[in-house]
Parts: sequence; structure tokens; C-alpha cells
Amino acid sequence: MQAMAAVETAEEGLPPFCISLFGGAVEKRYRALKPAFAALDPSALDPADFEPDELARGRELWSRAAFNETRSAAAAAATARAFIAAQAPLDLSAMASSFVLDELAHAEACARIAAALGGAVELVTPIEQLDVRGPEDGHALMVAAVLAVRHYCVEETSSAPLLRATAQAARHPLLAHIFSLLAKDEAMHSQLGWLFLDWCVDQLSETECVRLGRVAQATLDAWSASWPTGDDEQHLPLGGLPPRRYRELAEVAAADIVASLASYGISVEVPRASD
Ligand SMILES: [Fe+2]
Ligand SMILES: [Fe+2]
Repeated sequence: MQAMAAVETAEEGLPPFCISLFGGAVEKRYRALKPAFAALDPSALDPADFEPDELARGRELWSRAAFNETRSAAAAAATARAFIAAQAPLDLSAMASSFVLDELAHAEACARIAAALGGAVELVTPIEQLDVRGPEDGHALMVAAVLAVRHYCVEETSSAPLLRATAQAARHPLLAHIFSLLAKDEAMHSQLGWLFLDWCVDQLSETECVRLGRVAQATLDAWSASWPTGDDEQHLPLGGLPPRRYRELAEVAAADIVASLASYGISVEVPRASD
């Protein structure tokens, strides 16, 4: 078993975040399921080509991305399980299930980039976020709807245009390629929550739509609180968007999400950047 990346958590009593591979036939089967990711060659990245501050920022960005993608895999798994429990259409549940694999492949790719840049950095990671669950007080359809709205209508839908722009801004061929692979998968993921609402919205009561609005609002507000501040427009050679560009795209994405939710009778206010 080979450790790909380890990101320490400062919280006592909790294990550090770590990505590892079992190897052998298991790894071979996994690689065959995501061939484009299997073909990535992070050795094309030479740490000597970057300034020390760019390298430090890049290692942190890709380490954090490895954790965030693993958390997306956990959210995708919880959502797929909830779809099956709610007897969602089988093809929709199968689509949701396939996204778990996508997110795991994304996590590994990010960890490999961090490793190529000199290794994952130590971050304070809320490791308990990997234990994603739906609400415990709803019927199966409502549990699935909460997860679909939180993780897909808001989180995945918001990340898709940002990744697309990041892919377009990337200048290093390997990074442009990996961002375009991620953006392609995220474009698919961003559709799932809306497809689920298409299927179930007529079965939801007005009270349940109000509750879904609260879920969406809390998720949007938490996301907007994390938007980068400042007006630095400098190109980031190892990934990421300059703060102002990020906020411009994020505000448009948030407004689109609010408008789309409104079309399903789910009322939410547009969050704004804090500066
Ligand atoms: Fe992802
Ligand atoms: Fe995703």
C-alpha cells in the first residue's frame, strides 16, 4: 500500500487525512475505470520552474484540493445512497453512483500534483467533514432532496464555471489538461441536483421547499464567506484564479443558482462578496 499524500489535522484524537493505494490488481481495475486520469504524468511538472512563494502556494492549493475532492466523494456517496433509499429513477441513482468514482479520481490527481510539487503541506483539515450525512428527521425523499440541493444544486453547480475558467487560465500544459478533465466531470456533476428536482419537486410540500431554501441559503452563505478577498490580478502559475476574477464568476454562478432554485419554488437570496 502506497501513501499518496498526507495532510495533518491539528485536531487531537483524529487521524490525519491520507490518500493511499492498495496497488496490484485493485489499482489496475481502478485505473481502467478512469483512463484519462490514469494517463496523467505529474512528473511533467518541475518544481525548479517556479518561485518559492508560487511553489508554497501551489502545494497548499493542491493539498487542500485533495481533501476537498475526497469530501466531494463522501458527499456523492451519501447522495447516491439517499437516491436509492428514496427510490429515485434507477438511471439517476446510477449516475449519482458513478460520481463517487469521479471524485475519488479527482482527489488522487490533486494529491499527485501536490506530491510532484514537493509533497502535501500540513493543513488544519476538518476531517469529520468526510462523514457526510443527510438530515435524520426527514422521510427518504426529503433526505435525498437535502443532499441533492446542498451538494449538487449549490456546491457542484458553483464549482463547474470556476473550474472551467481555471482551465482556460492555466498556462502549464499539464495543469491545463488536468483542470479541463476536472471541469468536464464537474459539468456533468452540476446537472444531477436539477435532474433530481425535475423528478421530485411535485412530491415536495411547501414546507419542505422552505426547508430546502434554508439548506441552500446556508450552503451559499458558507461558500461566499470563503471567497478570496483583495484585488490582486496576478496570474497564478500553479492554479487558482486571481481574487477579483474569482468573485466576479462566483457572483454570477450564485445568481444563476438562486434563479434556478426559484424556478422550482425554492426561495433563496443571492450572497455577496464581503468586500
Ligand atoms: Fe471533483
Ligand atoms: Fe464534482
